[in-house]
Amino acid sequence: MTNLYLIGNWKQHGSRAAIQAFSEQWSSDANSRLRIAIAPPFPYLQVLDKALPDCELAAQDCSIHAQGAHTGEVSADMLADLGCQFVLVGHSERRQYHDETDELIAEKLAAAQSAGVTPVLCVGEQLTARGAGEQYDVVRAQLRSALAKSQPNLLIAYEPVWAIGTGLTATPDQANDMHAMIRQELESLLGASHSTPILYGGSVNAENADALFACPHVDGALVGGASLDAATFIAIAQSASNNLSH
Ligand code: PGA
Repeated sequence: MTNLYLIGNWKQHGSRAAIQAFSEQWSSDANSRLRIAIAPPFPYLQVLDKALPDCELAAQDCSIHAQGAHTGEVSADMLADLGCQFVLVGHSERRQYHDETDELIAEKLAAAQSAGVTPVLCVGEQLTARGAGEQYDVVRAQLRSALAKSQPNLLIAYEPVWAIGTGLTATPDQANDMHAMIRQELESLLGASHSTPILYGGSVNAENADALFACPHVDGALVGGASLDAATFIAIAQSASNNLSH
């Protein structure tokens, strides 16, 4: 394993006061192989950047358009201009509540890549699909359509929808097996030599992080709820750091 990635997804949470409080508690032991980023809501990107200069900056979404008459949209170029290294693309909440299709997600991936912002492509199955044993088919289909025209410069986050915000986590074996399948699929889609990091997301917390980071195919975590609390996020970063030193 070369690097581990830890990305906090704050979703629609945060305020200037909350960022101030978070930064007062924040500390990270500098491990050059652990990359830590936080994705706050758009209006707080710069506030967070100033408050937490040792964290990288991620956005939660981007437009397919570079600029123009698209009220409410934020382009990947604007994110690059603000210093964002990463942007989440195709999060299940965008797919579910904003009707994002695989085609749109493929366009967002391309927009991010051409702006020089690394997309974090989120994939994952619903509980019914897992119950029917169709989880691999669902994720494979999501990868194939999103990556049809993609460059290798991206991260993948496997987030089983049934594990997001529910307190249910995939077992380390479930995560590892899916990541192994994703790795195989990426090799056929993007070429055998690539080393796209594959993060796990879905109710990651300070208690289960060690076991997840220990999985050979898990290259990091996308953390929602548990990233809002600085002490918990620090504990998860510590788990990642410990894992890198084993
Ligand atoms: P959760 O969210 O950690 O709160 O389950 C993860 C995500 O949606 O990225």
